[in-house]
Amino acid sequence: NLTPGPEHKFTFGLWTVGWQGRDPFGEATRTALDPVESVNRLAELGAYGVTFHDDDLIPFGSSDAERDAIIKRFRAALDATGLVVPMATTNLFTHPVFKDGGFTANDRDVRRYALRKTMRNIDLAVELGAKTYVAWGGREGAESGAAKDVRVALDRFKEAFDLLGEYVTEKGYDIRFAIEPKPNEPRGDILLPTIGHALAFINSLERPELVGLNPEVGHEQMAGLNFPHGIAQALWHGKLFHIDLNGQTGIKYDQDLRFGAGDLRSAFWLVDLLETAGYEGPRHFDFKPPRTEDFDGVWASAAGCMRNYLILKDRAAAFRADPAVQEALRAARLDELAQPTVAPGEGLAGLLADASAFEDFDVEAAAQRGMAFEALDQLAMDHLLGVR
Ligand code: GCO
Ligand code: MN
Ligand code: MN
Ligand code: MN
Repeated sequence: NLTPGPEHKFTFGLWTVGWQGRDPFGEATRTALDPVESVNRLAELGAYGVTFHDDDLIPFGSSDAERDAIIKRFRAALDATGLVVPMATTNLFTHPVFKDGGFTANDRDVRRYALRKTMRNIDLAVELGAKTYVAWGGREGAESGAAKDVRVALDRFKEAFDLLGEYVTEKGYDIRFAIEPKPNEPRGDILLPTIGHALAFINSLERPELVGLNPEVGHEQMAGLNFPHGIAQALWHGKLFHIDLNGQTGIKYDQDLRFGAGDLRSAFWLVDLLETAGYEGPRHFDFKPPRTEDFDGVWASAAGCMRNYLILKDRAAAFRADPAVQEALRAARLDELAQPTVAPGEGLAGLLADASAFEDFDVEAAAQRGMAFEALDQLAMDHLLGVR
């Protein structure tokens, strides 16, 4: 079944289909999209929800009256279509005031403003039912060495998340934060550049239970990392609060291609993981329809994200269900990996007393064993390409 529906929990940022195609070398190639039209079109395509930065919905500098009117109209579109808002986030990167960052700007008044801007949009996010609040610190970073004292900037980053945690706790909000790592772009180097850096940072916070991750496919791949491995570790730590799905071809600028474009094998293993590891959150697409496209191309690109996810879900399920794959998994000893290295009750003393573990262990014989991974991987390739 390749027809997307609300049960698949596909969500899109307003800024994705609404991207006008401005890049460092060229002007916009598309006109602005009315958020209400995005809601309507995404609902028709089978999406479950939409997400937004404060400024995607309410143009920066709107008066309170304008803001109220926009929210009322947006809410009416949500009610009419049944789309939900599971996540929202703050734009702390477009306005020139954020050129040196939001939470870690050297200027203290900018940091205080960034926090207030964020808290104001958290109120709206909660009003609209969001359970996750994303923090992508695209401008938190530097282009040169002395410009940012990274240890002190991390103090300020921690201070920001501690204050935000205090804010939602005092308000009694049912919402958690999800940090989105990225190695670079728009800053030369960005703080918390990968999943691993962010996981370690979260442990130093006052309320670590309120903070998890929103990893993006292309961002880890920009750093040459294995995205499914990063997601597996985030799941292992209980920190996969949300996910940004898109496509990227290797270590280069942030391509934000539609999901399934770019590294297809990585996308296959990612969907296999999400569908078997108990991740229940939204499948959120954060992509940019290339600036070559008109609006027909935009909607084709959005539909393609969902279609590719469902194709890969189908292929991954076929892979897991194939008796030949199950046999190949046993041949590759995945079942043995699941056994504790020291038996229950055996303990350290048992390991130390076991001559077969060391003194009598036939190292050479063990070294001769093949792992049978190539046959297993070819079965995956056959399923992915639909020839099996
Ligand atoms: C990127 C980022 C952004 C953020 C989004 C949320 O592609 O560099 O993914 O798109 O996810 O802006 O703040
Ligand atoms: Mn990106
Ligand atoms: Mn993203
Ligand atoms: Mn993006």
